[in-house]
Amino acid sequence: MKLWGGRFIKEEDRLMEEFNSSINFDIRLFKEDIEGSIGQAYALKKAGILGEDELNKVICSLNEIYKEFEFGKIKVDNSYEDVHSLVESLLYERIGDTAYKLHTGRSRNDQVATDMVMYVKKEIRVISAQLISLLEAIMDNARKYEDIILPGYTHLQRAQPILLAHYFMAYFEMFKRDYMRFKDTLERIDIMPLGSGALAGSTFPLDREYEAEVLGFKDISLNSMDAVSNRDFCLETIFNCALTMMHMSRISEELVLWCTKEFNFIEIDEAYSTGSSMMPQKKNPDSLELVRGKTGRVYGDLMSLLTTMKGLPLAYNKDMQEDKEPTFDAVDTVKMCISILERVISTIKVNGENMFMACKEGYLNATDMADYLAEKGIPFRMAHGIVGNVIRYCEEKGKALDELSLEELKEFSDVFSDDVYIAIDIGNSINRKLTIGSTSREMVEEAMKIEEEWLKVERNMFIV
Ligand code: ARG
Repeated sequence: MKLWGGRFIKEEDRLMEEFNSSINFDIRLFKEDIEGSIGQAYALKKAGILGEDELNKVICSLNEIYKEFEFGKIKVDNSYEDVHSLVESLLYERIGDTAYKLHTGRSRNDQVATDMVMYVKKEIRVISAQLISLLEAIMDNARKYEDIILPGYTHLQRAQPILLAHYFMAYFEMFKRDYMRFKDTLERIDIMPLGSGALAGSTFPLDREYEAEVLGFKDISLNSMDAVSNRDFCLETIFNCALTMMHMSRISEELVLWCTKEFNFIEIDEAYSTGSSMMPQKKNPDSLELVRGKTGRVYGDLMSLLTTMKGLPLAYNKDMQEDKEPTFDAVDTVKMCISILERVISTIKVNGENMFMACKEGYLNATDMADYLAEKGIPFRMAHGIVGNVIRYCEEKGKALDELSLEELKEFSDVFSDDVYIAIDIGNSINRKLTIGSTSREMVEEAMKIEEEWLKVERNMFIV
């Protein structure tokens, strides 16, 4: 049955019915719709609209329907316009007319906004817990490979030696920010729209604060028009997903490069690779490619909803039904990708020797040599020029910097002495970094300790 048939004489066109219907996707809000309805029932009881018996009947039946749904016993009939119509009709089948009282002082506009925000809150908790697991996997790798040195890159050109732990901790910082962003969003969006009616509020004395308490909301909305037409909480969440995807895409891209024969820095576990149907030798890092590939669709989800919202006058407009698929898709995608990435990261094999060898070629210690000269009093800009000349000489001779004799070096500057070899040693190069946040063992250890403490606290926040 339609929730709005009374005013109409003519039948709805079948195609229009199909076009208008959201049941295929908003069925995902089934549980939230039941929970929201339970909250509504309590508020109606308090307002004197439902009697004690009626309240009990409503709550019992809604709980029953909830359980049946969980056990897959509810047949989702596509003839319903949306999940709200379905839930109401399931309740009507059980308790008759009292079911229709539930919509007193409630519109689907405040109902759907409430369902959506409850859904988003629940999913943010799941994503946050997943991000913590991912952060733990990254931290484990940083600890496991603490001593491995590899080239750090800028412009994808070998730049300076870094610790592999420093590399992993760089991603730790990114995903920590993502986690914090979700957490922050959760704080901000915890506001109940229910009780806003269609747009103007309700004639019935619904105790919204009490209802919010029943439904586990921290706060209630203060403007009914904004409340029914607000989808910022979806947008913020999709944005958070998009940014997390961007970070996951970057590490994926990097690991895809690292497992090529050209780099040969890591191996991806077979469980997360696939073969080629034609080339028997291939082992492709599909897991990482898909994480990278799915990033685009989450950006699309964000664009799609931003665009849906941009031209809408107050208050509710049916356009807003288009909030669901992008929100669901972004959440589903980010959850799947975090899980996969965590598994890939915890199972990679690191080829530390190749990483170190790569530091030997490409003059990664050139900056250290320039710093050495600067420490001896040569202005850095000039030291940079001198080392540039040394590099050109090395390239002609096919030598590495540390393969030059002191006499050869003295040709470029008489400041060079024996201690230059200590300064340009790859291992020393790392530890000569003194600034907080740098790649020296000491600073990386410091950062890891701080982040391990942080993890200990946050780990208990979102247990699911
Ligand atoms: N299916 C609708 C949605 O997702 C529910 C709200 C409908 N409200 C209305 N006034 N037609 O947005």
